[in-house]
Amino acid sequence: MAARIIRYNIAPEADFSYDQGMTLQRTDPAIAELIKEEANRQRDVLEMIPSENYASPAVREALGSVLTNKYSEGYPHKRYYQGNQYIDEIEDIAIERVKKLFGVPYANVQPYSGSPANSAVYMGLLKPGDTIMGLKLSGGGHLTHGHPDVTFSGTFYRSVQYDVDEHGLIDLDYVQSLAQKAKPTIIVVGTTAYPRIYDWKKWKAIADNVGALLLADISHIAGLVVGGAHPSPVPYADVVMFTTHKTMRGPRGAVLLVTDQGLKKDPEMAQKIDRAVFPGLQGGPHDNVTAGIAVCFAEAATPAFTTYAKQIVDNAKTLSQTLIREGFTLTTGGTDNHLMVVDLRPQQVIGNIAAVALEVANIVVNRNSVPHDTNPPFYPSGIRLGTPAITTRGMKEKEMRQIGKWIADVIREVSHYRLPEGKEERGLFLKKIRLELAANKKLYSIARSVTILCKKFPVP
Ligand SMILES: Cc1ncc(COP(=O)(O)O)c(C=O)c1O
Repeated sequence: MAARIIRYNIAPEADFSYDQGMTLQRTDPAIAELIKEEANRQRDVLEMIPSENYASPAVREALGSVLTNKYSEGYPHKRYYQGNQYIDEIEDIAIERVKKLFGVPYANVQPYSGSPANSAVYMGLLKPGDTIMGLKLSGGGHLTHGHPDVTFSGTFYRSVQYDVDEHGLIDLDYVQSLAQKAKPTIIVVGTTAYPRIYDWKKWKAIADNVGALLLADISHIAGLVVGGAHPSPVPYADVVMFTTHKTMRGPRGAVLLVTDQGLKKDPEMAQKIDRAVFPGLQGGPHDNVTAGIAVCFAEAATPAFTTYAKQIVDNAKTLSQTLIREGFTLTTGGTDNHLMVVDLRPQQVIGNIAAVALEVANIVVNRNSVPHDTNPPFYPSGIRLGTPAITTRGMKEKEMRQIGKWIADVIREVSHYRLPEGKEERGLFLKKIRLELAANKKLYSIARSVTILCKKFPVP
């Protein structure tokens, strides 16, 4: 690898007079250089972390616009600051677009991200000590779904967690009996690592049966829902939350929707959520992000996005079938959505080694726990991968078959490594492995082939 020289100090010739010529390159060449290198990395690798994507140049233009200069605490036409006539219009547009996309009566587009958005639902609709019922982290749930002790949701509320079965599937009969015992105030449905479709109607029946609210956290699958590649929770859930930067392909942010069903249960639900977002948890909205969100909703309303959403799923299915043919075990036996989790226990490879080896081969995934993993989350037994970003580049089934074979070859190449037992030994071992893998000829050759493939599919 060529040596990289970055100057961390401010360039001595930098001129800080605030004028149009104050480019990033001139003002801060170190950051400019790192951004360029990150752009090259994103161009030259297969980004297969399922929560990542390539936002369009239009979205990025809105993000980098003068809107970052403005303060606009409050909501459209009810601000605490002057000078918000254009910001109001932008936020109104974002709200109207998302209401139309999902067919809901109410939307809040201000949450800074998914975690504060879920927290706003709890703050707005629950009292401290009420019960949140969500999926365990190790089963594919999210920290904000009541993960005990270390999180906001697991500290200020009583948390009861359901789990997946030994195949990685959510057994709704078991969820129903747990709900009957736990009597949760809210049931959270939505995951970071679940490859199957949610049966929203059954979830609503479970929630109704115990008088719980139903929050659908569709952070991962929002783009699939909009594109018709996954059923919508809107007819069944009371509140829907999603992040805008995953399959929705927008900027980092989140949206809260209240459905007709939610308003029927509590006509004040929308106002309660508005108040929880601001002033409950947040200050001024990030107006540049709001504009980027509006742009991504315009993009998501096009027929091209529907084609994109369907292709994400077709690609994931082809990739999962290829991996199964290559002898790998996928949790739940495959996928219906954009992601899959490979259980590497039969290969006796830990997720860390697989993920590092794949990165050397220019395939970027993340290590992940598998259902009922006996390894700790830091050394989990699997990897999680997804197709949203590589589908944005235009890759299709043919490329998925090739990528599946590369992934299989990489994992086979490292299947003789065994993680030592001792904690300290493990750290040293992983450092040593990194160096060894960086010099591995097989991985290097796959990395070159990946880069050649990537060149044919430019990033937006
Ligand atoms: C299901 C789910 N909910 C919430 C979040 C939190 O989003 P953020 O990282 O934007 O806070 C994530 C992020 O990975 C997620 O997957």
